[in-house]
Amino acid sequence: MTPPQPLATVIQGSLSRGLEARLNPGVSVEDLRVGKFVVIQGQRNRFFGLLTDVTLETSNPQILVNPPRPEETLLQEVLAGTGTYGIIALTPMLMLVPRQTEGERLYPLVNPERPEALAAPLGQEPPSAGAMELLPVKTVPAHFSQVYEARELDFRTVFGWEDDPERRNFAIGQPLDMAVPICLDLDRWVERSNGIFGKSGTGKSFLARLILAGIIRKRAAVNLIFDMHSEYGWEAASEDKHASTVKGLRQLFPGQVQIYTLDPDSTRRRGVRDAQELFIAYNQIEVEDLALLAEELNLSEASLENAIILRNEFGRDWIGRLLSLSNTEIQEFCEQKMGNKASMMALQRKLTRLDNLKYIRSTLPHNYIGQILDALSRGIHVVIEFGSQSNLLSYMLAANVITRRIHQAYVHQTERYLQSKNPLDRPRQLCITIEEAHRFLNPRAAKQTIFGTIAREMRKYFVTLLVVDQRPSSIDSEVMSQLGTRITALLNDDQDIEAVFTGVAGSQNLKTVLAKLDSKQQALLLGHAVPMPVVVQTRSYDQRFYAEIADPDWSQAEDAEVLLAAQQAKSELGL
Ligand SMILES: Nc1ncnc2c1ncn2[C@@H]1O[C@H](COP(=O)(O)OP(=O)(O)OP(=O)(O)O)[C@@H](O)[C@H]1O
Ligand SMILES: [Mg+2]
Repeated sequence: MTPPQPLATVIQGSLSRGLEARLNPGVSVEDLRVGKFVVIQGQRNRFFGLLTDVTLETSNPQILVNPPRPEETLLQEVLAGTGTYGIIALTPMLMLVPRQTEGERLYPLVNPERPEALAAPLGQEPPSAGAMELLPVKTVPAHFSQVYEARELDFRTVFGWEDDPERRNFAIGQPLDMAVPICLDLDRWVERSNGIFGKSGTGKSFLARLILAGIIRKRAAVNLIFDMHSEYGWEAASEDKHASTVKGLRQLFPGQVQIYTLDPDSTRRRGVRDAQELFIAYNQIEVEDLALLAEELNLSEASLENAIILRNEFGRDWIGRLLSLSNTEIQEFCEQKMGNKASMMALQRKLTRLDNLKYIRSTLPHNYIGQILDALSRGIHVVIEFGSQSNLLSYMLAANVITRRIHQAYVHQTERYLQSKNPLDRPRQLCITIEEAHRFLNPRAAKQTIFGTIAREMRKYFVTLLVVDQRPSSIDSEVMSQLGTRITALLNDDQDIEAVFTGVAGSQNLKTVLAKLDSKQQALLLGHAVPMPVVVQTRSYDQRFYAEIADPDWSQAEDAEVLLAAQQAKSELGL
């Protein structure tokens, strides 16, 4: 293999402003694009950084006054590299240092048995990706350090690789100018709540489905997915010319994913087999659920206050009781309990709208939410489909009622675990996915909804959120700042762009990057699950992906078509 050619030589700079490097002879400025990853080989450390600007310079102002004429090519060549040259601006993002053993850390002598503990000499490959450690940049490379193009091994060192036995990594895509994987560390991902943002049609749902598949495959957490548009569980539409639909998670992991549906007819029509039905009873709806729906149901403050009076009087059955009261009974009730008749009648009238929701029953013999909890505790991922019941009222009510119950159970279980310290009592890490997240997490709702609570309390009770949304600026800024990892596809609105960077220092460069993304299948990754911000070309969700990720036990697959496709893809790939 030919040794790598250095691109440039560091000439000046600082930790706060970044570095400047002069292009080496023979390297054209036009080969260096903003956003390129570079490695700077210092005397002791390697620095991994980003190219952030390119400038043309001359050593003598006389040349500018009197530039060579177009036909003076010889003069142009003579000047190039000496009289005229290019400068690149670099931002070092990480320091790669040889991983030390405990002994070497305490007694920093070079161990002759482990020559890799020495900094690799100029331009030489580190011995292996795992031999280097990533540290935040606290210094700059010395004068005249050489700058190289980052190569596959550097990327692997920084962003990991999917089959690393020590980490649960998931390849989410590739950098824009190279075919190497960029991985999310799934253990870090599920530790905090996360967000996927971007305007409509940029690939948010596809990204979410990719990551969820990764979590299922690597067993990093158990998922509960509120599938508003029926695109996660079973077949989802695609705008791709070659394939009009893509597989849902249940098709990829038949034994590990269960679909529950709030609209069995629609689910059946779509050809989904053995989806479980799910109903919600009036006595599972709390006043806080209605507070969240105040706008949808057009409820006034006064109606909500009267709801509390009813709840205090009748207990959990208050909605059923209210709906059965006659006008005179309401009048009597109000006189006794200091309620307001007009507000209470308005409440009664507006709550009759709930009767139109297909999944609402006045009473239920069976605890459906308990059944979901049971599945989750066994590690079965649950997708809840809404079918035709996907209007906001219906979606928000069901998601809030179900999540509140599940969160309650998790709080109890966590308390039990903290007391017993028995690993068997440890709740399974749960990740809840919601689309249209700003409806639950806008500044007003975030204070009342269970989703706001989960986002704020972080991982305390082993539950985190994956919020998918096109209007991040509508989400409460406190919630935004708690998000561990943010994946953002193209956004145009300045407020939305601003919101994505809530709580991120030095984000000016990244903002420009964000506004320049392609309108589809490109995203900026930022936060806890990646070592540094990076733009990726998102992994394609297609036949090849199914073959790489789906359940390896294809004998279990009921879907002959998927099975065949996977086998074909696998043989094409030589897997
Ligand atoms: N990773 C991917 N692999 C394959 N196709 C993709 C990928 N990402 C996006 N696409 C294409 O882009 C289209 C839009 O993606 P998607 O439905 O995820 O957008 P969205 O951001 O969720 O939009 P909306 O806000 O309207 O829900 C898809 O139908 C698909 O054709
Ligand atoms: Mg979508």
